[in-house]
Amino acid sequence: MAYDLDQFIADCRAALSRDPGPAGRETVRVNLERLLSNRDFVQRYCGDDVPQGLKLLYEDPGLKFQILAHINDKARVSPPHDHGDSWAIYGQATKYTDMIEWEREDDGADPAHAKLKPVKKYRLNPGHAGIYQDGKIHSIDYPDGARFIRVTGTNLDNIDRVRFDLKTGEVHRMTPQQAT
Ligand SMILES: [Fe+2]
Repeated sequence: MAYDLDQFIADCRAALSRDPGPAGRETVRVNLERLLSNRDFVQRYCGDDVPQGLKLLYEDPGLKFQILAHINDKARVSPPHDHGDSWAIYGQATKYTDMIEWEREDDGADPAHAKLKPVKKYRLNPGHAGIYQDGKIHSIDYPDGARFIRVTGTNLDNIDRVRFDLKTGEVHRMTPQQAT
C-alpha cells in the first residue's frame, strides 16, 4: 500500500515523541519525501482541482506540530525570514521552489537591523523536502502553480518571528501568515 497521510502523521508522532530535536525532525523530512512520492496523495491534496489557499491538514493536539498544504496559484518571492523558536520542513508537491539560506553577518546587537549573506542556494523539485531548524533564515521563490506541504513544529501564527528587508537591513516583526 502507498504511504499515505495517516501513516505519515503516525510516523511524525512517533519520531517527534522519541526525539523532538534535529534528528527527529530529519526523520519527518525523509518521511515527507516518501509521502510526496505517493501520486494519489499529491493529486488529492495538491492537484489541479484543489482550490488555492492555505489548508491545515493536521495539527497534533499534544506535540503541537502542524501539517499544512500551500496551494499557490501565483508566483511569489518571500523576504528572508525565520520561523521563530520553531522549525519548518518544506516538501515540494508541484513545480519547484528556489531556496536561499541566509546567515547574519552582524553580531545581532541591534534588534532592528541586520546584515545578511546568502550561504546556500538550491531548488526543491517535486518529491524533495528541505529542513530549516530553529533560528535558520531562509527565503523562497516559486513560480505560478507551485504547491508544497509544510510541516512546522508549532502554529507559527502564535510565536514571534522576523523578516528581513535586504535593501534597508531593517528587521520587522512578522504578522500571522505574512510569509511562509
Ligand atoms: Fe519559511
